[in-house]
Amino acid sequence: MKILVLGADGYLGWPTSVDLALDKHELLLIDNYAKRSIMSENNRAPLILNKKIESKIKILKKINKKVSFKNIDCSNFNKFSDAFKKFKPDAVIHFAELPSAPYSMLGAKEGWKTLQNNIQSTYNLVWNVKTHRPNCHIVKLGTMGEYGTPNINIEEGWLNVKHQGRNQKFLYPRQASSLYHTSKIMDTDLIWFYLRLYSLRATDLMQGPVYGVYANDFSKENKLEPTFAYDDMFGTVLNRFIVQSVANVPLTVYGSGNQIRGYLNIRDTIQCIKLALKNPPKKGVLNIFNQFTEQFSVKELANKVASALKKIELNVKIKAIKNPRIEKEKHYYNAKNTGMKKLGLKPTLLTDKVIIEMAQYVISNKKHINNKIISPKSTWK
Ligand SMILES: NC(=O)c1ccc[n+]([C@@H]2O[C@H](COP(=O)([O-])OP(=O)(O)OC[C@H]3O[C@@H](n4cnc5c(N)ncnc54)[C@H](O)[C@@H]3O)[C@@H](O)[C@H]2O)c1
Repeated sequence: MKILVLGADGYLGWPTSVDLALDKHELLLIDNYAKRSIMSENNRAPLILNKKIESKIKILKKINKKVSFKNIDCSNFNKFSDAFKKFKPDAVIHFAELPSAPYSMLGAKEGWKTLQNNIQSTYNLVWNVKTHRPNCHIVKLGTMGEYGTPNINIEEGWLNVKHQGRNQKFLYPRQASSLYHTSKIMDTDLIWFYLRLYSLRATDLMQGPVYGVYANDFSKENKLEPTFAYDDMFGTVLNRFIVQSVANVPLTVYGSGNQIRGYLNIRDTIQCIKLALKNPPKKGVLNIFNQFTEQFSVKELANKVASALKKIELNVKIKAIKNPRIEKEKHYYNAKNTGMKKLGLKPTLLTDKVIIEMAQYVISNKKHINNKIISPKSTWK
């Protein structure tokens, strides 16, 4: 397939690109390094500052000549449209968003930047698909955070509502608790709107927080790791806990730690994206999958990390700190995730071995850890 990967430099975009290159797809990778700029503007940095795609792409070209890269801002209509029309993709994977909840809640400028970047990039994509490639399959990274924490079971994208004797299937209600997550709800609405009117085809992957380093053995052998953020603004919780354990800093459990979410390994993110590509919906259909493999409370996650890392003699401490976010700490949570398994997902579960392997990666880069960017510096209040 001819696949356009938007946000190819990111934590998930890069390993997906490597995997699709190995599968010999023709790829156009796009990124404008927005994440790198925003991290550095906010004095944050990933564990290792990876080389930019321009220099890493040589390695990919050795395995697949049909891989190219363009430094384009997807929120710039003309530049994005030119690249899209020239490439004529069969599928687009859309990662190109600013995905930080804390960043989006910092202030008016950061909030607007998140909304503007995410909605405009999604709009440009859908508009170009509708106008130039209506058969092209949009694979959009959504988030489980769009649903929030409702007091009923979370269905996979849709809810059948019976009201006064009549039935209608609606998008499952979305009620996020950050501006970033709200921007993702707006993306969903945009895609659903265009799809209803113009019979496009799209898959929305409602993903939980991802953890892990290497998505495949090739990446490990060639040191093609993704950007591994562990700071308070851009790191995901389990990746943060692993770095905190290695840095001998107590794990920062926010509030009571009873917040439950669905998590998945980075290997499973790639599996799910590939399954979505292999199973495009019919025209006019929006497929929605809840993309996570296991549910844990934050406290359970911290305890799992502490218990696994005891095996390699790390004495992990856990400390409940005042929650910097505004979120429910005690809530019902039961989300369905059967769709991807039906398509063939083989979950990579969070075992002690997985936790230890992540810690070993971090230990080998211990000298790069900056303790100053670990504790949350801003609150949502
Ligand atoms: N990582 C997770 O745990 C997680 C969980 C749920 C959903 N998601 C979703 O998955 C997607 C990717 O997440 P990630 O963790 O890889 O994020 P990331 O920030 O590491 O990657 C996003 C990439 O998109 C690029 N980008 C942003 N705006 C752009 C623009 N206007 N033009 C071109 N490039 C742009 C950034 O430079 C970055 O390289 C996001 O949409 C996010 O909402 C991620």
